[in-house]
Amino acid sequence: MNIIKASFEVTYDFPVYFLDDFFSEDEQLLKEILSITSEKKPIIFPIVENAIVEAFPTIVSDLEALFLRLDMPITPSFVIAGGESGKNDEALVPQIIDQCIEHNIDRHSYILAIGGGAFIDMVGYAAAITHRGIRLLRMPTTVLGQNDAGVGVKNAINYKERKNFLGTFSPPHAVINNYKFITKLSERDKRAGIAEAIKVALIKDSHFFEELVQQCTELKSFDRLAMKNMIHKCAKLHLTHICQNGDPFERGSARPLDFGHWSAHAIEELSGFELRHGEAVAIGILVDSRYAFYKNWLTQHEYQLIENLILTLGFSITKSVLSKLDIELSLDNFRTHLGGELCITMLQGIGRSCEVNDIDNKLMQKSVSYFINDTMEE
Ligand SMILES: NC(=O)c1ccc[n+]([C@@H]2O[C@H](COP(=O)([O-])OP(=O)(O)OC[C@H]3O[C@@H](n4cnc5c(N)ncnc54)[C@H](O)[C@@H]3O)[C@@H](O)[C@H]2O)c1
Ligand SMILES: [Zn+2]
Repeated sequence: MNIIKASFEVTYDFPVYFLDDFFSEDEQLLKEILSITSEKKPIIFPIVENAIVEAFPTIVSDLEALFLRLDMPITPSFVIAGGESGKNDEALVPQIIDQCIEHNIDRHSYILAIGGGAFIDMVGYAAAITHRGIRLLRMPTTVLGQNDAGVGVKNAINYKERKNFLGTFSPPHAVINNYKFITKLSERDKRAGIAEAIKVALIKDSHFFEELVQQCTELKSFDRLAMKNMIHKCAKLHLTHICQNGDPFERGSARPLDFGHWSAHAIEELSGFELRHGEAVAIGILVDSRYAFYKNWLTQHEYQLIENLILTLGFSITKSVLSKLDIELSLDNFRTHLGGELCITMLQGIGRSCEVNDIDNKLMQKSVSYFINDTMEE
């Protein structure tokens, strides 16, 4: 037998910027953000979600003016649909690829993706598979995009209604979190993004959870400072986990950042993607926290803090959808999604998590029933 063992390491690093208004930043900083030097002037191909063009009608001309000012080549902006329906629409990725061909976009060019978490996932996937990877500048425009989806290393589209079935791990070149975009977001979408902050606080950082509880009134009214603080801390915890837990490309089965997500993915699908990802995550967190309480992993007081925070922020439990949840099937789909054995993150107190390999389905049904049978005030 002949065998050659290949082994190499690739180091990734990328900055995540937090700015109030990207378009009014000074030229020097913009050049740094876009890694522009006098020799290096790659083509920028902006792909913008149409909801952003509706909310900020001058965005395309602002981009053109900006890159003209920076003396950078820019193609016309490609404006397309986003949201979960964009991730479900199989026509969009080929359209992006065709545009790359039309504008001679190569691996030294940059795709600048401006849109919500779903849009960034979809454009990121197209960028990752075209020419085996075009550099990606992400400019997420939602709370969830800025504190979670846009800052990580994954991208995906849905396939035959299966959430994130096609995708790759491909770190971006840089992430630009521009707070100005958040100002035009619906209340529903501002709230949805807070769910991921609650999630990561619960599994990683009890102080951050306490802070969310203390800031509940400000967050409920989407106070600018409270929101910016929440976005920054949430993004930092996600990135710290990705960079330091030793498994950025998720080769193992443990997936702590997916706390509450085994049911959230199913709930999103069962709602026909009517529920936002963050709204489904809020329900998923509640279900798994209730389960942890029944298991004596959370005290009554700890559980109540979680329930109060989520409900006070205005999340609602869509009973009609939750009552359709098939626990066994959803866990099985999640296991396939993880690859290997079932590994579910559960709370062991606030700010601490553990991985479990099996779920007591009867007890989980009891947790789900608690939310659908009007027993919550028990
Ligand atoms: N890749 C990852 O690591 C990762 C992590 C978490 C979540 N996700 C994915 O992120 C997606 C959810 O992202 P989301 O919560 O941002 O939802 P979204 O992208 O669906 O956006 C929500 C809505 O807001 C609109 N919108 C976006 N920006 C706007 C703005 N600035 N002003 C007004 N309207 C705006 C969109 O058109 C959409 O209707 C899900 O598909 C989820 O699977 C990915
Ligand atoms: Zn999520």
